[in-house]
Amino acid sequence: MKKPMVIPVWLTVCCFAGASGAQQLDELAVDVAPTLEETAAALETATGLQDIRREGMLVFTTPFTVPDGFGDGPFDPNEVDPLAFGHRPTLQGNGTLLRVNGLDAQSCNECHTIVKHSTLPPTLGIGGIGGMVQNAIIMPSLIDVADSADDRVGYALGHDPDLPLEPDGVADYNGRFANPPFLFGGGGVELLAKEMTVDLQWLLEVARLSPRGTVVALVTHGVNFGAVVSRGGGEVELLAEGIGLESDETPEDVLVVRPFGRKGENFTMRDFDRGAMQFHFGIQPVEVVGAGVDEDGDGVTDEVSIDEMTVLHVFDVTNPRPFIEPLDPAAERGAQLFEKLGCVSCHRPVLETRNRYLPLAFPEVPNDPKANVYGFIDLVQVGFDPSPNGGVYVPLFADLKRHDMGPRLREDFERGEIPNTDFTTARLWGIADTAPYIHDGRATTLRKAIELHGGEARPARDAFVALPHEEQAYLIGFLEKLRTPDNPNEELLLP
Ligand code: HEC
Ligand code: HEC
Repeated sequence: MKKPMVIPVWLTVCCFAGASGAQQLDELAVDVAPTLEETAAALETATGLQDIRREGMLVFTTPFTVPDGFGDGPFDPNEVDPLAFGHRPTLQGNGTLLRVNGLDAQSCNECHTIVKHSTLPPTLGIGGIGGMVQNAIIMPSLIDVADSADDRVGYALGHDPDLPLEPDGVADYNGRFANPPFLFGGGGVELLAKEMTVDLQWLLEVARLSPRGTVVALVTHGVNFGAVVSRGGGEVELLAEGIGLESDETPEDVLVVRPFGRKGENFTMRDFDRGAMQFHFGIQPVEVVGAGVDEDGDGVTDEVSIDEMTVLHVFDVTNPRPFIEPLDPAAERGAQLFEKLGCVSCHRPVLETRNRYLPLAFPEVPNDPKANVYGFIDLVQVGFDPSPNGGVYVPLFADLKRHDMGPRLREDFERGEIPNTDFTTARLWGIADTAPYIHDGRATTLRKAIELHGGEARPARDAFVALPHEEQAYLIGFLEKLRTPDNPNEELLLP
């Protein structure tokens, strides 16, 4: 038996609130959401899933206010790290906004708005990409917009080596600058990451139980994350590549696939959302700071509840997936070149999951996706094609692995957990519609995005540059068949 009596209670609140203005909408998103159990039950039916998605969409689009807990609270001279979430100053002491280190928007949707940037006018919608102005400016302590002659930075990155460190056209900057990607197809990506993590943890366990000297290849879903060598007695030496954070202490910590964020820092979309709430809004999730705790000292507790984060997560992972338009002969030729040049070694056209059901867990345990699972989402129901093996195909054009992209794409971030040259492989599904390109949106065309590749991608990039112009055009023509969904989330807006 489903729980028919429970769900209509909050549904009534939803419809009433939705129809009667911002104040109630605000209260809905911040105070009323189905519980974990109600959400889990609702996910089992198509209409239930739709209702939860609508709830999540409301959290995604709610403009958070100061009474909701927007902001980091009054200035506290005892705080040690003025760049950390929860302790930031405001610009000119305006009391609300900073913009250059978060506190930069009121709603998630302020930045994730463009569904197709290839149409004129652009097609707007919920959960899309952001343009340049929507970039997030992350944790800088220096932005030398005047290109000062006294050049305060100790490093010469980005500078022409033949010029002295003085005005040289480089506005030094030591934060991250990131262009908003879309949320489309996120469920397939999250399921792949979870299955890969399960496999890598298992391979690690195999190595721990194997005789000294045994080498276990860390290959999952056809992607190679290096190897682990048994040192005997349960000890191992990890030779991992493209995975792990600097702060990871054990091999179990390292072997967690983190596909979200352009650096590949977050293991689920919910994990990303927790940070997004804190960074952009100064909204402290209960699941981070605890119930009843006013971590940022702004006089508001329980700024976003566990249940609200749950429906937001459901919305994230059920966003429709991008699709490929039928290929004409020229695009076919482009697809062949994409393979021949080696683009596919990172941009894997399709990965297949073992299962079609995405498990949702709370609390989430990074290295154990099977822990605390409260419900499942059938990814076929949200538009993924089933595979004969019981899984789904995820046509993402990526490998969920990080790669060294060379000095030209290097960031100068001083607080990173990931080398400044490394980024997770950009998923190219939908790429026809998502300009500008590259992590900070610096490439206004696909051609430029490809030309900027370096590091591990240097050979493929050089091979592209060496192609006759006509062949380059075929390859780009193929990428232009990779489209974002038509009218994503439109059904959630209907009365
Ligand atoms: C100021 C603009 C801005 C706002 C507001 C914003 N985002 Fe984002 N979003 C970004 C940027 C930029 C990135 C890429 C971040 C990175 O590379 O680390 C991103 C990435 C993401 C991702 C990862 C997508 C992927 O495939 O890697 C998710 C999920 C996401 N945002 C959800 C949210 C949610 C939920 C909110 C509201 C709580 C939100 N965003 C608010 C700019 C924004
Ligand atoms: C070694 C792995 C690797 C190879 C090989 C590779 N790429 Fe990439 N690609 C990446 C990574 C990582 C990014 C993200 C870089 C960033 O954001 O700074 C990326 C980004 C892109 C982007 C921009 C995506 C966006 O959303 O901004 C395009 C387009 C692209 N690659 C096309 C290609 C093509 C075409 C080839 C073959 C000529 C290729 N790549 C080869 C790893 C690779």
